[in-house]
Amino acid sequence: MIPNQWYAILRSEDVKKKPVGVTRFSKKLVLYRDTRGKVVCLDDRCPHKGVPLSHGQQHGDLIACPYHGFQYDASGQCVHMPVLGKNGTPPKAMCVRSYALREEHGLIWFWTGDEQATPVGEVPMFEEFSSYQGFTSRYGWDAPVHYTRYVESVCEVYHVPFVHKGSALNIWDPKGGRVDNFECHLQGTLIRSEFILRADDERTAEETLTAKTPWTRGWRIGVDVLMPNMVQIRNDVFDVYLIATPIDDDNTWVCVCYKEPKRDLLFPFIKPLPIPGWRRVRPWLMCRMERYIQQAKDMEALRGQTPRISHLKANKLLPLDKVNAHYLRLRESLTQAALSQRAEPASQAIHFVARHPTATEPSHTNVAQSATSSLLS
Ligand code: FES
Ligand SMILES: [Fe+2]
Repeated sequence: MIPNQWYAILRSEDVKKKPVGVTRFSKKLVLYRDTRGKVVCLDDRCPHKGVPLSHGQQHGDLIACPYHGFQYDASGQCVHMPVLGKNGTPPKAMCVRSYALREEHGLIWFWTGDEQATPVGEVPMFEEFSSYQGFTSRYGWDAPVHYTRYVESVCEVYHVPFVHKGSALNIWDPKGGRVDNFECHLQGTLIRSEFILRADDERTAEETLTAKTPWTRGWRIGVDVLMPNMVQIRNDVFDVYLIATPIDDDNTWVCVCYKEPKRDLLFPFIKPLPIPGWRRVRPWLMCRMERYIQQAKDMEALRGQTPRISHLKANKLLPLDKVNAHYLRLRESLTQAALSQRAEPASQAIHFVARHPTATEPSHTNVAQSATSSLLS
């Protein structure tokens, strides 16, 4: 993972009344909600004899270890040890690390900064979702792949005609395997691209977009990456973002979020069913299809991919893979910058990550643009 970044680690609804244990960034963490509903995150290991706190119970704002009942507050300090009696004073050293969190956009965000650095800056989110008022659905699961390879697998879509050719949607409305009109722009730590995915025939790219029959139609698609680990796919049917947060070197927590579809892909002339809640059901269903139909195929295709962890020299990329190249370059430059800032006072280190990407702030643009010089032409 990249230091000094906000990463989504769970959906808000994943932390309810009981402590939840998860592994992220190869760390075992326990999360629970205090009595005001604020999410607390601690190392999931009681320092007494190493039992996971996530196996314990919550008592008000405290979490109790199941082994000898030591209770810890939100700062990770042990505040009660039954063995010492109710007036006993737990030693200061009996504590676990606590972590800074935010809860926004229906997600719980973890700060990957140094212990002493105070997290600042906004959590990353695509503008298309942060300003959206309609229904969305989020779904999360674990994928057996390193998160860099996961990001790469969704930051291009010209694998769709091959990997997903058997899916019902792709048979009805195939996208073809040729990419035209590709454009890619950097806006700070946001990479945006647009292109037309179409069948390779005599028509112009624009002509394929207006074809009446779905099976001859081309698709105008946008694929964006927002650092450190989010990908958005836009087209005239749906908008979706996908988050890939490291669990460890072999596994990734994936979270997808779909908006309501803009039109019905299979039956475009039929109005949405007059069933109460149908508008909520459609993004819910699309999330499940993403996991069980699309991503199952992606994981099959990625099996055995080497090297397991991607980096700038791991691939031979095409000019059409510019989004991928920019992602790897930004990952490296953000990591290097964060590591070099560690030697400096925390207040300076914070400024680097506090900057939210805007269209007018081309930080890292030059670094990332140089990534394209290594593309095959
Ligand atoms: S191991 Fe947790 S209280 Fe003893
Ligand atoms: Fe795919």
